Amino acid sequence: MPKQNFFSYLHEKYETEFIYFDTFMEEALYSQLGFFNTAFVRSDKEGDFLTSPEVSEYFGKIIRNWINSESNLKNIIEIGSGTGSLIEQIGIKEITSVELSSTARQELIKKGIKTHSTIDELITKTSDLIFGNEILDNIPCSIGLYRDEGWYEKVVLLEETSLAYGLRPIRNEQLDWVNKNNIAPNEDYEFEIQVNIDKFLNSVIKKINPRKILLFDYGYEQKKQG
Ligand SMILES: C[S@@+](CC[C@H](N)C(=O)[O-])C[C@H]1O[C@@H](n2cnc3c(N)ncnc32)[C@H](O)[C@@H]1O
Repeated sequence: MPKQNFFSYLHEKYETEFIYFDTFMEEALYSQLGFFNTAFVRSDKEGDFLTSPEVSEYFGKIIRNWINSESNLKNIIEIGSGTGSLIEQIGIKEITSVELSSTARQELIKKGIKTHSTIDELITKTSDLIFGNEILDNIPCSIGLYRDEGWYEKVVLLEETSLAYGLRPIRNEQLDWVNKNNIAPNEDYEFEIQVNIDKFLNSVIKKINPRKILLFDYGYEQKKQG
């Protein structure tokens, strides 16, 4: 049977005129047809992009030196491990991985790394350290925009033969986030709305309540106004 394509998959699942960008990103990355669930791990030399631990072993070595300088960290967990290169570089066998992508999990299992697909699957309820590299920017975000004295969200229009971008008035939860984070109303400037990162981190803290969290990510800078 031919593999369904992403376009018809979206049309069948959503019988709506449009979906918000965070829903589109969730589907594009993590659905069965998504980027992270195809035949090979994407953040690898054979994949599409390279992350710091794939480029240099010193990333993990520096973290290992820091872990060693702390007294006796137990139940260490990495979230979003990809190929597991950072765990290998740190060199502590007992580190557990939480990795959403089934393709990446197969790679981790081959390397003998204990892995779960979500935080909720972890048996432990405590951890001295949760760490991760480039996980937060892979959590589906919404995209906001300020125009003509109003806030909008970018949506993906499910047109008959193609996908296109459109704008719709911002949802309440996203507007609350904009106000809470003092996002500047710069005309026609697109920005990420990270409601789902807040939810993700809150769920990690609620479930595990780690003593330390170490996350590396790359985002945009917003200069203070005035
Ligand atoms: C950009 S890759 C980074 C992989 C690795 N940390 C590295 O530096 O090479 C992001 C990884 O996070 C995983 N991921 C995204 N959301 C996740 C979640 N909620 N829980 C666990 N893993 C997640 C993705 O499947 C992907 O493997």
